[in-house]
Amino acid sequence: MFCDANGIRLAYGDQGTGLPLVFLHAFPMNRSMWAPQVAALSKQFRTITIDLRGHGESDAPLWNFSLDQYADDVCALLDYLALPQAVLVGLSMGGYVSFAFSRKYGSRLKALVLADTRAQADSQEGRTGRFNLAQTAYRTGSNAVAEAMLPKLLGPISLKNKPELIESVRSTIHQTSVSGILVDLMAMAARPDSVAHLRTITCPTLVIVGQEDHTTPLADARLMAAEIPGARLAVIPAAGHLSNLEQPDAFNDLLRSFAEEVR
Ligand code: MLT
Repeated sequence: MFCDANGIRLAYGDQGTGLPLVFLHAFPMNRSMWAPQVAALSKQFRTITIDLRGHGESDAPLWNFSLDQYADDVCALLDYLALPQAVLVGLSMGGYVSFAFSRKYGSRLKALVLADTRAQADSQEGRTGRFNLAQTAYRTGSNAVAEAMLPKLLGPISLKNKPELIESVRSTIHQTSVSGILVDLMAMAARPDSVAHLRTITCPTLVIVGQEDHTTPLADARLMAAEIPGARLAVIPAAGHLSNLEQPDAFNDLLRSFAEEVR
């Protein structure tokens, strides 16, 4: 499905009824990464998945957007669907967008799930890494980006034992346009630090992290859970950065109990 949001065509999926759970994907993925969650949870909840601008079937204009713009798009979709509030489930870059959303539209948050993400801004070294990846994307396309990202996205256990998952993540990244990748990299490099914002989050919050996540590791998750009032932390064993895909049953169980609690 599509909606017009802030001058672009935004693609989204909408299945089930009840408490709306809005899923925000990682870089450089798209909404298809939430398939295991939609399959398991749409029987009980309304699951809404968004292709953030530059991804999947959404438009991918090459422009200097910030993550605030992505948050504005999420808000435009909530308005379009006439949803006063929703539970945001943001993984990694989706978590960064959730912080931007929380700053601008905090009253629209029923609850928040921050998975495999971090509140800190990029370090100088991190920004240099993004610049180098942007060069790779521009020179050689999304295939090279997929090879660079796979070891950061999947944990060692999945990289060893889950060839089908590796292939599926690779193929999702291949579908991402270079303009989408470049805009994400610039927007993530420019994002503000959200550590001071954590204390101001007032909605129920669940922090999830894969035990083998080396991209946004346990220490980052602990910081978010410690600073957000009342937040809980859950660690998923045998999962890396894409914990929802690496251990979907564990991820779904956590999400289901949390959503049942807050509904
Ligand atoms: C992601 O999974 O969204 C990215 O790895 C986040 C990042 O590069 O900071």
